[in-house]
Amino acid sequence: MDFIGKVVLISGATGGIGEQLAKQLSKEGVKLALFARREEKLKKIADEIKKNKTECIYKKCDVKKVNDIKEAVEFTMKKFGGIDVALLTAGVLVPNPIQTFNSSIIKSSLVTQSQILMGI
Ligand SMILES: NC(=O)c1ccc[n+]([C@@H]2O[C@H](COP(=O)([O-])OP(=O)(O)OC[C@H]3O[C@@H](n4cnc5c(N)ncnc54)[C@H](OP(=O)(O)O)[C@@H]3O)[C@@H](O)[C@H]2O)c1
Repeated sequence: MDFIGKVVLISGATGGIGEQLAKQLSKEGVKLALFARREEKLKKIADEIKKNKTECIYKKCDVKKVNDIKEAVEFTMKKFGGIDVALLTAGVLVPNPIQTFNSSIIKSSLVTQSQILMGI
C-alpha cells in the first residue's frame, strides 16, 4: 500500500505493536495521530517521529471510555480532515482459558475497539 499523504490513526501507540508501527510509518510520508493512556510517553514518541519531518499529533485516550474515543476521532478529523487507516492495537492480554472461559471479557474489548470504527 502506498502510504504517502495518508492519515493513519493508531490506538495503543505507546508500546509494542502500535509504537513500532508508528515509527516505521513515520518514514513513509504519512500523517500520524497517536493515542494511548500515557501522555508523557505519547509526547516522547511524537517528538522522536517529528524529527523525521512527519506530521504527528497525539492525545490521551482510554479506549474503555466512549467519550475518549469520540474525542480522539474528532481531534484527528479536525487536525487532518479525515482518517484513511485506523490501526487499533490498544489492548492488554487477558488470559481466558477455555476451562474458565468468560465471554464478558471478549464482549467488552470488542465494544471498545469497534467504537473507534463507528466514530469514523
Ligand atoms: N505482541 C504480540 O505478538 C501479540 C500477538 C497477538 C495479540 N496481541 C494483542 O495485541 C494487543 C497489543 O499488543 P502489544 O504487544 O502491542 O501490547 P503492549 O506492548 O502491552 O502495548 C499495548 C498498548 O496498548 C495501550 N493500551 C492498553 N490499554 C489501553 C486502553 N484502555 N486505552 C488505550 N490504550 C491502551 C498501551 O498504552 P497505555 O498503557 O499508554 O495506554 C500500549 O500502547 C494486545 O491486546 C495483545 O494481547 C499481541
